[in-house]
Amino acid sequence: MLYSLTMGTKNWYSDWFDSKYYHILYKNRSQTEAEFFIRNLITFLKPAENSHTLDLGCGKGRHSKFLFDNGLKVTGVDLSENSINYAKIQETERLRFCVHDMREIYQRDEFDFVFNLFTSFGYFNSQIENQQVINAIDTQLKKDGILVLDYLNAQKVRSTLVPNEIIIHDGIKFNITRYIANGNVFKRINFEVEKKAFSFEERVELLEINDFKTYLNATSLRLIYTFGDYELKEFQPEKSDRLILIAKKEK
Ligand SMILES: C[S@@+](CC[C@H](N)C(=O)[O-])C[C@H]1O[C@@H](n2cnc3c(N)ncnc32)[C@H](O)[C@@H]1O
Repeated sequence: MLYSLTMGTKNWYSDWFDSKYYHILYKNRSQTEAEFFIRNLITFLKPAENSHTLDLGCGKGRHSKFLFDNGLKVTGVDLSENSINYAKIQETERLRFCVHDMREIYQRDEFDFVFNLFTSFGYFNSQIENQQVINAIDTQLKKDGILVLDYLNAQKVRSTLVPNEIIIHDGIKFNITRYIANGNVFKRINFEVEKKAFSFEERVELLEINDFKTYLNATSLRLIYTFGDYELKEFQPEKSDRLILIAKKEK
């Protein structure tokens, strides 16, 4: 029997990101890299102390905690109940976590910053849902508030895709297959635990800068800077590892 969470009743991302195997596969997600990026963003954006930041799709809160350590008030939200339960261990009065769907509004006109980091976008089934997320961000930011959206660089993903890979963590051998189809990058993850076969699939839309400009232009958010990596170097479509967008709420 094959256990496939992509066949579940919910969306693949609510099942997979909440599963214990997702956390095993990505257990080595780098805290050092998260802190390096946040340090550079803070130097660049110069947030006032106590600025309220929404970490949208915060996962276990690795960026949220470091933002809080640097003097910001932080609310981290994520669809995954397991990730939020883990993040909550770190909660204080000015560092809160909550299960929340980014397509919905959490608090209107409340945030000085919204951070959507490490490809926490592009999982949805329609352009309407992508737009819903950007609209919700717009509604939740104060005037002059800033959105930081850190996404994959579609062009680099297309040119450097590794089709097959094996990763072993906690005695589980994850067989990973990657492919591109219909403007999405797919990652199929097969493994066996106690003689049960599991199969999951991640899918991320290969959105380009112009797609984001279209979403932003339908709101009062305006793109003000674009960077290509966590050092905040210039975005170069052929070379950059990331597409990092900084947009400001103008009205
Ligand atoms: C690649 S992970 C990044 C997590 C975190 N930002 C980090 O860097 O560790 C993407 C996250 O987006 C969350 N996510 C996916 N769809 C969501 C939605 N509709 N609303 C809120 N969070 C969502 C997932 O649960 C997952 O934690």
